[in-house]
Amino acid sequence: MRMPQVERLPGLPERVTIYEVGARDGLQNEKAIVPAEVKAELVRRLAAAGLDMIETTSFVNPTWVPQLADAAEVLDLLGDLGRGANRPVLVPNERGLDRALEAGVGAIAVFGSATETFARRNLNRSVAESIEMFRPVVDRARAEGLWVRGYVSMCFGDPWEGDVPIGQVVDVCRSLTDLGIDQLSLGDTIGVATSGQVVSLLGALDRVGIGPDQIGVHFHDTYGQALANTLVALREGVTVVDASAGGLGGCPYAKSATGNLATEDLLWALEGAGVQTGVDLEAVVETSRWLAGRMGRPSPSRVVKALTGG
Ligand code: HMG
Ligand code: MG
Repeated sequence: MRMPQVERLPGLPERVTIYEVGARDGLQNEKAIVPAEVKAELVRRLAAAGLDMIETTSFVNPTWVPQLADAAEVLDLLGDLGRGANRPVLVPNERGLDRALEAGVGAIAVFGSATETFARRNLNRSVAESIEMFRPVVDRARAEGLWVRGYVSMCFGDPWEGDVPIGQVVDVCRSLTDLGIDQLSLGDTIGVATSGQVVSLLGALDRVGIGPDQIGVHFHDTYGQALANTLVALREGVTVVDASAGGLGGCPYAKSATGNLATEDLLWALEGAGVQTGVDLEAVVETSRWLAGRMGRPSPSRVVKALTGG
């Protein structure tokens, strides 16, 4: 398989951790329900490709997201491979945490919003109420020794509210970090961010004590900006990047959200720039090809298309 010619790009970290969200963000938005065994096989293949951090599923209200109603079954099929501090699951509330603990998870992610409209639509709560919903979840999770991530959605623009003031994003980020999470993930849920915004937000967070070492970036690729925004974030010191195999993804409660930054597109750029990831590009491409076959449609990733001839 063709690989990029390597030319180190100054200013990038030596090593980047790819936080793989295909099995969760990717599959939560599929019209067809993907069988639990296919989901488990996806996680197995991603792990075998060298992806270390893999978000496996969601313990949300199954009426809201029926695509991931089989969360416990998927983890059951995965056995030890689905558990541990590097296999987070989405958990919105204590009911979700109970289910996740019963399934034996070692890491969770709560998910807030920078805007009121999306908080209502995604969590049926105001921003402040959602933080209060997360508080006992994070407390209990930490008491159980779990690793905890906190997402903030709509950091760079919102489909209903338009522009989102940076101060508003910073406030929600602070509320989440004050809960005692291990990592914050900045979500561009609808893929509208541009690189200046990324630099400004990371700078504003740094000024309130939330440095790039505590942050992951989560760009959806709706406007084709995800990779550019990621490279800018890496130059600002971020070393954790969310991506989904094949570029699957979206959010059922934000209609203008399309897929995440594709893991393969990210890998092509990082390999070429001489940044280590520990991930085998060819194995991820093969996984996306296999999944596309199961889903009956081609992968949206440019790199997958280029390397597999369509
Ligand atoms: P609600 O309806 O307000 O919940 O939903 P409730 O607390 O009123 O409970 C209603 C019923 O649901 C009760 O059952 C609960 O037990 C049950 P009943 O007593 O009527 O029989 N219930 C649950 N069942 C199983 N698991 C649970 C659970 N919770 C309640 N966890 C809630 C509130 C937060 C639960 C709901 O709004 C929800 O599940 N939302 C999740 C939406 C979602 O998953 N969105 C996609 C993920 S976010 C995303 O993709 C963005 C991200 O990628 C970053 C980015 O791109 O920006 C992370
Ligand atoms: Mg997302």
